[in-house]
Parts: sequence; structure tokens; C-alpha cells
Amino acid sequence: MSNAGAKQWAESRGVSRRAFLRQSVGFSTGAAAVAATSGLSGGGAVAATGGRIDPGYFASQFYDEAENTGVREVVETGSPFRFWGPRTPQKVKAFEDEFAKYMGTTYALGVTSGTAALDCAVAGLGIGPGDEVIVPAYTWWSDYTCVVHAGALPVFADIDRSLCLDPADFERRITPRTRAVIAVHLLGGPCDMDEILRIARARKIAVIEDAAQAVGATYRGKKLGSLGDVGIYSFQLNKMISSGEGGALVTRDPVIYERAVRFHDMGVFRGLFSDRTGQSRVPMFAGENFRMSEFTGAVLLAQLAKLDRMKAELKRAFLAVLDGVKDLPNIRFRRQPDPEGDLGYALYMEMNDRAGRDRCIAGLRERGVPAGTLSGSVLLPTEPSVVNKQTRHPDWPSFTSPEGRAIRYGRETCRQTLDIFDRFVQVRMGPKYSDADVARIIKAIREVFPQAYKA
Ligand SMILES: Cc1ncc(COP(=O)(O)O)c(C=O)c1O
Repeated sequence: MSNAGAKQWAESRGVSRRAFLRQSVGFSTGAAAVAATSGLSGGGAVAATGGRIDPGYFASQFYDEAENTGVREVVETGSPFRFWGPRTPQKVKAFEDEFAKYMGTTYALGVTSGTAALDCAVAGLGIGPGDEVIVPAYTWWSDYTCVVHAGALPVFADIDRSLCLDPADFERRITPRTRAVIAVHLLGGPCDMDEILRIARARKIAVIEDAAQAVGATYRGKKLGSLGDVGIYSFQLNKMISSGEGGALVTRDPVIYERAVRFHDMGVFRGLFSDRTGQSRVPMFAGENFRMSEFTGAVLLAQLAKLDRMKAELKRAFLAVLDGVKDLPNIRFRRQPDPEGDLGYALYMEMNDRAGRDRCIAGLRERGVPAGTLSGSVLLPTEPSVVNKQTRHPDWPSFTSPEGRAIRYGRETCRQTLDIFDRFVQVRMGPKYSDADVARIIKAIREVFPQAYKA
């Protein structure tokens, strides 16, 4: 990884470049280092280490006998493959049925990752060369790669103070070629879905909801992922529920579902799926293998049953901290399009400039509070491989069309996003925070914020 690249990765995760490189020791490539820091940032052990409050990895803090039992059953039946084996496999099927019910949608599909789920969503909508897809300028790589993998053109729109897609900028970036928008519910909070859906419906643009970082969060009482045309989730370690790796897609549309199922399984549409949709409506086409294993399904079934408890514990910590600091003069938080539906992944405080942000982060860290810049995503339009439109083949259709050749990425195309990134302080919450942890965080913010804001 280049110095500049390392610096930006480090910065976007709120660590010094030296600390970042230290963390990455043992990984021989930039890609491995990227993998090591992907997703929402996590801590490790829950206990305060060296006086530092550590939110830990949410999902695995809730592992217990339920996950053990599920995995043991897969071992004992000798049936780790979801479609057949010595005994009838049922974990992934049961997870899909439960997940669709939990999300208030019709169909769910388990896959190997959130990235695979996005590829299936794009295939599900039939997006391809000549199409444009609008993607937030600050999100995870997969929202960009799924568009490029399809040969379509990624068009970035800014985020706003919600830290999610700015509906006004989304509208500005629409062209006659826009086929879809990816509404990414970033950092546990919902996008402004009323506005995004209103604009998209009026212009006949499909809405893909990426709820990878907001599994179980809601918008006006509806589960994220169930509001648009197709929704996706990730179950990688840093997410709300986790099987280490894993992902899911949901939709109410049988055609999108069939196309996604076919794409995830070499083009095949097995009986289990046609039983769900009643019939096949789409001819076979070339797909991938993104099938979920029964081990993954077993862990996710156990985790899903705990999701509401995990959410409640995380939100308890968030609301207690919010309550303890909300009266501070000048304090401004992330705009929440629906505060009820937000998971409370972290408290976000808006400063006037980057220097104020850095003063605030430094002061909080001195007091052992897990503070940093926004984390877990990438300022995509500024990444060298994006700016240079690098693809796996020089004639890749995304960038050989007149629009693909003409489009420019880079810092000047996402000024609002860069400004927001530079001004927000993130204070991580943990579902297992004690009352003492919460009190320490409140005390630290009350001491640090007024100084950092004014200085
Ligand atoms: C917003 C967003 N979308 C998609 C993904 C991809 O999920 P996965 O890591 O399971 O491939 C992530 C992962 O961090 C993410 O944060």
C-alpha cells in the first residue's frame, strides 16, 4: 500500500499511520491489511484494557450454547452442504425463513458475504453495461465493486449530516441512464428513506438498500432492507449478528428473487426456491457460487434469535450517553432521519472543523474513551484505483462507454462528503458497557467537548 493510501486508510479509521502499519504487520499485501480493518471497527476484549473502554465485537460477545448446539448438530449429522447430505440439511433454509419474517419481507436468500449479496442484488435487477448506479461517496468498497462487476457505471453522490446519502445530491446525479441507487444505511442509522423513495419512484429508479452496517435497524417502524426493491445485509465479524463471514438478500419481488438465486448458484433455480415463489419466471443464465454453508446457517439462526436483545443493550448505552451530554452548549449530533430506528452504534458529534475534531478525539482518547473519525468505510471517489478507473480488463464496459470515459472521480467531486468526514467525531458504544463505562464517557465528553469546540 502506498504511503498516501496507508495514510488515508489510517485516517478513515482514526488511527495514526504508524499505529495502522503496526496493526497491519503480518499481512503481506495492502489487500490483506484492508481486509483486517474492513467493516465497522471493532475492539476486541470487552474489559477496559489499560484504562481504555472497549466496545468489543458486538455479535461474538453474545455467543453461547445456542451457537454451539447449532454447529454441533451440523457436525453430528455430517451435513454441512445446504442442498443435500446424509441427513436433510435445514439450517440455511430455516435461517432464510426466519430472516424474511424478522425483516417483514417475503423472500430471503443466504449467501457468503454482504459483497456477494450486493452482486446478487445488482444481478437481480438485471443491471448491466450502459446503466448507471448512484452510490454514496462514503461507504464500503462493495457498493462500488458490485456496480463495476456488472459492467455498469458507478456515479457518486454526497452524504449529508445523516452520514448517509444526501437525497438532494442523489437527485442531482440522476441521468436518463440511472437504473438504481444504493441507499446505504451507514453506521447503524437509516437513510432518509421517505425522500429517497419519493425521488426514486418518481424517476423509475430501483432502490437497493444496503443494511450491512445496520442489521435490525428500522425506519418508521419497518426493518431496513424491506423498504426498497431489494435489501442486503452482512454478517462479517464487525456486524450486529455474525457468523464470521456471511450475507443475505431480501425482496418481495419474485423475479428479483429468482434472478438473485440463480446468480448465487451457477444459474440454477432449485425446487426449494421455486416452492417459495410458486413457479419459475426467468430462464437460466451464468451465475456464481455464493451458497451459504450449514455451519453459517446454524450460527446465524442462533444469532438472529438474540438480535432484539443485542439491539436493546446497545441502545441502552447510547441513550444513556446521549442523555448525559445533550445539554452541552453548541453540541450537535448526527442528523437522524428516524432516531427510533437507529441502532446507536456510536454517538456522532459535529465539530466546526478538522482541527476541532482532532482536539476532541485526542482529549477523549486520553481519557480512555473509544473515539475516532468516522470508521468502517472509504472515501471512494478519492481512492487511486477509483480515480484511475482500474478494472480487471482494460476494455471493461463500465468505463469504455462515452459516459464511462467522460466521468471524473476525485476529491473535487465529493467536497460535501469530505467536509462532513473531516468534522465528525465518533464515540463507539458497546452493548456490554457497564454503568461505570457510561458515566466515564459522559464525564469525558463533558470535559473535552467545550474545550475542543472553542479552542
Ligand atoms: C456498507 C457495507 N456494505 C457491504 C459490505 C460488505 O459486506 P461483507 O464484508 O460481508 O462482504 C460492508 C462490509 O463492511 C459494508 O460495510
